[in-house]
Amino acid sequence: MSEILISPGRVTGETRVQGAKNSVLPVMAAALLVRGEVVLRGCPALADVDSAVHILRHLGCAVRREADTLCIDASGISDYAIPDDLMRRMRSSVIFLGAILARTGQARMTYPGGCELGPRPIDMHLDALRRLGAHIDEEGGRIFARAESLRGAEIPLRFPSVGATENALIAACAAEGTTTIRNAAREPEIADLVRFLRAVGCRVTGENTAVLTVEGGMPSHGTQYRVIADRIAAGTYLCAAAATGGSVLLHDVETAHLATLCGALTEAGCEIGMEERRISLRAPEKLRAPGMIVTRPYPGFPTDLQAPLMAALLRIDGSAVFDETIFRDRYRHAAELAKMGADIVCEGSRAIVCGVPALHGARVTATDLRGGAALVIAALSAGGDSVIAEAEHIDRGYEDITGVFARLGVRVQRIGGT
Ligand code: EPU
Repeated sequence: MSEILISPGRVTGETRVQGAKNSVLPVMAAALLVRGEVVLRGCPALADVDSAVHILRHLGCAVRREADTLCIDASGISDYAIPDDLMRRMRSSVIFLGAILARTGQARMTYPGGCELGPRPIDMHLDALRRLGAHIDEEGGRIFARAESLRGAEIPLRFPSVGATENALIAACAAEGTTTIRNAAREPEIADLVRFLRAVGCRVTGENTAVLTVEGGMPSHGTQYRVIADRIAAGTYLCAAAATGGSVLLHDVETAHLATLCGALTEAGCEIGMEERRISLRAPEKLRAPGMIVTRPYPGFPTDLQAPLMAALLRIDGSAVFDETIFRDRYRHAAELAKMGADIVCEGSRAIVCGVPALHGARVTATDLRGGAALVIAALSAGGDSVIAEAEHIDRGYEDITGVFARLGVRVQRIGGT
């Protein structure tokens, strides 16, 4: 258990943005396909990345970390099962399924089950792998997949799931023949995975579109690769500046990936400047309500920024409406924000935020990664100090949060736990 103490203040200054967690994790899984060394740059120091390193080492890979670089050599892979504690630590470990199966002919793990965002089905992941020729048994919360060989297939996804697209892509690279993934996710992290796969010799086309084509069975080789910047971490820091009447300049950002958030923040009254790989934001004293925020698959508004933006809008004039269409249970932060004086009514997929004149410091609990980030933002804009318990959720996605906020002129201090 870890706790952080937050003193309110204006978020003002400059910082660089970490590499994207949600790119690094699938690329680490894809590194299992490669017989040779993969040198991966831009890997943030995060609990989830550490969990992925544990998984690779458990499977028999050699993994070395030097600053933000991970050197992965999967030549010596000797296991095909992910231990239960690693599955529990990071439910998105399921993105290793296709890669382990493709490389070893079998894979065993526990079902990810429900999590803090609601039920976490993986039916599309399993359907994609079955279409590629895998036999998958599900029994007592366990998954056992095996395939003597994989063959190219048509994979239509009923929803553009990020994880299912990643699993299908990685496994298809090892299959004989052509695979077409339809209604594929178009998140920037998918395009990043495609670029990595091409860098190791796989033939994949169609990134940034809904149809991905893979010519499988190509021999792969080692490479050096740098993952893209984390658009969600960048968006969170923009929301923190917006919430506190601050002014920030972020370096090493992919500006195009933040278009919908910047649209909403501009409507709320912020001035935003974009130049190559840099983004600046200057916030007014008081934000106004933007139009309705509806979370959608990319290029729509990202579900991962719903909570941070909500936290930025708690003191607006008037009210803001959110519609969360991606995850069923992603408003758990609302009850914690209410402890600081926020007025939020949640009804099904909708949440209505009625602006309040001021927030007060409180003792709150992080419910999940992005919900935890929302609590940090609200605490920075409150009238007194706050303590956030179970801050380990936040550490899963934000590298050196105390250091980043120190560079941005505010105090986020660790006061207990690990
Ligand atoms: N879904 C199914 N069946 C499946 C797969 C998904 O019904 O087989 C549903 C999910 O329950 C959810 C929706 O489809 O309602 C979208 O899920 P998706 O598979 O796209 O999400 P994911 O791959 O599990 C990734 C990110 C999440 C991010 C979502 C949406 C990683 C490691 N995780 O999750 O990031 O919210 O895409 O963009 O890439 C975070 O970073 O905090 C985080 C939760």
